[in-house]
Amino acid sequence: MILGMHILSAEQFGTQEIEGIMLHADELREQIENRQGRRELATRHLGYGLCNLFYEPSTRTRMSFAFALKKLGLHDVETENASEFSSASKGETLEDTIRVINQLGADIIVLRHPETGSAVKAASVSKAAIINAGDGKGEHPTQALLDVHTIKKNHERLDNLKIVMGGDLKHGRTVRSLAKLMSNYPNNHISFVSIPELQIGNDIKLRLNETGTTYDETSDMLGAFQDADVVYWTRLQKERLENPDAVPQDGFVINAAALEVLPNHASIMHPLPRVGEIDPGIDNDPRAQYFNQVGHGLYIRMALIDRIINKL
Ligand code: NCD
Repeated sequence: MILGMHILSAEQFGTQEIEGIMLHADELREQIENRQGRRELATRHLGYGLCNLFYEPSTRTRMSFAFALKKLGLHDVETENASEFSSASKGETLEDTIRVINQLGADIIVLRHPETGSAVKAASVSKAAIINAGDGKGEHPTQALLDVHTIKKNHERLDNLKIVMGGDLKHGRTVRSLAKLMSNYPNNHISFVSIPELQIGNDIKLRLNETGTTYDETSDMLGAFQDADVVYWTRLQKERLENPDAVPQDGFVINAAALEVLPNHASIMHPLPRVGEIDPGIDNDPRAQYFNQVGHGLYIRMALIDRIINKL
């Protein structure tokens, strides 16, 4: 693959690679719509194997990789809840588990793990391609790629956008990877909406400064919405907080009243799961794009698998 092989961070993707992956995803979507194309894809990678190795809960990421690999003809080995059901519960290191899966012939290992940096650690001992499906509060690069694809579909551009990112920006990995990807494109402005305790990390601000992407930090959600093109909302990452009850949780809810200040052309995105920060009452608003994101994600993940195996 152009990317070297492992997918560890959004930082490894430049605009050309992103464009290539999005085009590839569109081609796969088209191909799967006809019966012959579907059949060709389903046998394309016979003999190749992907292992979903998830040490943290997941619905969308794990299932979309599972659907993607089936549609591309790979076989799979699933380790849902690996921290409980794998030898990790007996004290095996991540590196040893990765070595074992390599010996069994996996070509791709999709890894979700609570520790930041775990994907890099896994890649250091793996011949199989490691795909980082979320490493603690680090990164989630494949989610960011599908997010960018969704933005492109809705706005027909990836530059000159005002993107409002809100919620738990300190512990959420999706916003971190997305901010990195969007900083590749000129004239974007990111408005980070949160309480000061949960604001975006300094490493991301540094990256934005380096790339000339402007940003502001605010707790005025409605103020930020007024001229927004994209709103990207996230949940409080309770599992990463020492004392979740100490954090005020009623602040940033997108509901019908919030939609009144949001421009008609704007899109509302969320990596899901949502846990109260988007009122289901707005799901039928045409600006709500969070379920469509999942659909785009399937083809992005298929494209990534296809590119890794065929070294594109
Ligand atoms: C996100 C994650 O795991 O980081 N979910 C996802 O992959 N779509 C967001 C979250 O858990 O809040």
